[in-house]
Amino acid sequence: MRVVVTGSSSGIGKAVAEMFLGKGHEVIGLDINKSSIKDANYTHYVVDIKNKEALPEINNVEILFNNAGLQNSIDDIDNNLKGTINVTEKYINNNDALKSILFNASASSISGSEFPLYAASKAGVVGYMKNVAIRLAPKKVTVNAISLGGVNTSLNDSVMNDKEKFAKIMDVTPMKKWMDLDEVCDWVYFMTCKNKSASGQNILIDNGEHDLNDRFVW
Ligand SMILES: NC(=O)c1ccc[n+]([C@@H]2O[C@H](COP(=O)([O-])OP(=O)(O)OC[C@H]3O[C@@H](n4cnc5c(N)ncnc54)[C@H](O)[C@@H]3O)[C@@H](O)[C@H]2O)c1
Repeated sequence: MRVVVTGSSSGIGKAVAEMFLGKGHEVIGLDINKSSIKDANYTHYVVDIKNKEALPEINNVEILFNNAGLQNSIDDIDNNLKGTINVTEKYINNNDALKSILFNASASSISGSEFPLYAASKAGVVGYMKNVAIRLAPKKVTVNAISLGGVNTSLNDSVMNDKEKFAKIMDVTPMKKWMDLDEVCDWVYFMTCKNKSASGQNILIDNGEHDLNDRFVW
């Protein structure tokens, strides 16, 4: 399959790109930073997804993983929401090969917690995901979002390296852990390659942070 992954130079995007490559798929990565993957089946474009005109022509995209994102920048809405819309509109049009799109939203799309612009950008991604799911349902394309709680990536260095802050986060995380990249890859593979019937869904995967909290006061 031909898989496009945005934000493939680090963290989740890099791990997902490598997972698909490991399973024998062709992967095309888009990132504002240069490639950190070396594989004969990997093509990399250095591009800012905010710049619609700069997005490369890629035919017959079969799987699109919309992952590129920033956290707590002044650009969160333009980057995480509008950039993601740019990419999606570019590769869904005139494309009969498409099978699945997965958006990497965030638990904050549901809880509203974290940074204001970030939470708004990710809730916007979920609203847009549903719009695309409706439009592509007649073509049997699955379109969903995963909303992750904490993942052990460098995006979270500021809190992971601060013992006190991290302990506070674990206090409100019922399962007392964050996810590793391997598990994120499994979710991405399942949602894009195995799933044929769930569409328009935003799956919350957050170690119980949102729903299993015991801070019930009455
Ligand atoms: N790590 C977490 O705990 C967590 C939790 C929930 C959601 N997410 C989401 O997962 C996604 C990936 O996060 P990560 O932890 O791997 O972070 P990361 O910073 O390691 O990776 C993000 C990648 O996106 C790229 N990128 C950002 N803006 C771009 C743009 N305009 N154009 C092209 N490339 C761009 C960056 O260069 C980087 O390579 C983000 O959308 C983030 O919001 C992460």
